[in-house]
Amino acid sequence: MRLLTGIKPTGALHLGNYVGAIRPALSLLSDTTNEAFLFVADGHALTSVTEGAALKQMTYEVAAAWMAAGLDVDRVVFYRQSQIPEVFMLFWILSCLAPKGLMNRAHAYKAIVQPRLEKNEDDIDRDVFMGLYNYPILMTADIVLFSAQKVPVGPDQKQHVEIARDLAIKFNQTYGDVLQVPQPAIQKEAPSLAGLDGRKMSKSYHNVIPLFADDATLRKLIFKIKTTSQRPEEPKDPKTCNLFQLFAAFATADEKSDISKRYASGIGWAQMKEATFDVVARTVAPMRQRYKALMQDIPLIEQKLKAGEERARLEAKTLMSKVCRAIGF
Ligand code: ADP
Ligand code: TRP
Repeated sequence: MRLLTGIKPTGALHLGNYVGAIRPALSLLSDTTNEAFLFVADGHALTSVTEGAALKQMTYEVAAAWMAAGLDVDRVVFYRQSQIPEVFMLFWILSCLAPKGLMNRAHAYKAIVQPRLEKNEDDIDRDVFMGLYNYPILMTADIVLFSAQKVPVGPDQKQHVEIARDLAIKFNQTYGDVLQVPQPAIQKEAPSLAGLDGRKMSKSYHNVIPLFADDATLRKLIFKIKTTSQRPEEPKDPKTCNLFQLFAAFATADEKSDISKRYASGIGWAQMKEATFDVVARTVAPMRQRYKALMQDIPLIEQKLKAGEERARLEAKTLMSKVCRAIGF
């Protein structure tokens, strides 16, 4: 099976990125018959990053994060989106088949215009840029260019992968069977991880726990997670508790069942935060060390990306020649 996923270099990676994208991709890769295309979506980042030096630095950070999390970059195709010009060519071709109505329903755009529509505002598209509007089409190009079958993403990206399916089907109906129709791969037990304020953990909401925060910061942030005012002895419901959700994302099955019992019999929030810190820290501490070392060796990251980009372009050219033949270029 061929997997593909990308992460935008738009800020420090957080625990949600690890749980929703990096870890599921690594776990699918433990099956040695799977192959993977993993990339830094620096083209997508242009919708929010307008400083070149910052984009470059964050691009290395995302690449280093994959490597620190245990990715064997020599076993996969590891690259920067910007270095594959075919992506942007395919993007245009797919744009010509993408119904505008479908794009109107894409959630990033809809989240901006819906409240304005409800308030009957005159200019609902105020400050909306075409990059944001076209985002799902670029993502489709990323996916179908490499004939990906499974796309491991967090639940928030499911709609984008569904749009990619729709557009791949539309292309095939129009021009003949050229594109692989992809499927999202969302971990069953992976709800979107909540951030410090209870909303989805996201760089855009400034509510994240950075993946590579030092222990003191990690502990401080976990202690900041909003909880209810229930007293320690009151029974609590783990299913509706963001803190439990974070704990569960890093704990073993036995640890989860022990803590669930304590939710029923009574547990103080400070105790629960301490337990959460312990399970998160034991996973992220070794990664953080590797990450720090890698960020001291940018030439190594550059070398690994370049090698991946050569392999990615070979594949990209093969698919593009099929696409070009089909459309009459
Ligand atoms: P952000 O929302 O912080 O900008 P990205 O959009 O760059 O994050 O997401 C990169 C990957 O991480 C995507 O696959 C996305 O689904 C996943 N992801 C992001 N936030 C979360 C979260 N809170 N919980 C689970 N997965 C997440
Ligand atoms: N849109 C994804 C995000 O915001 C990042 C991304 C870009 C991606 N292209 C992709 C993910 C292709 C999976 C497949 O998180």
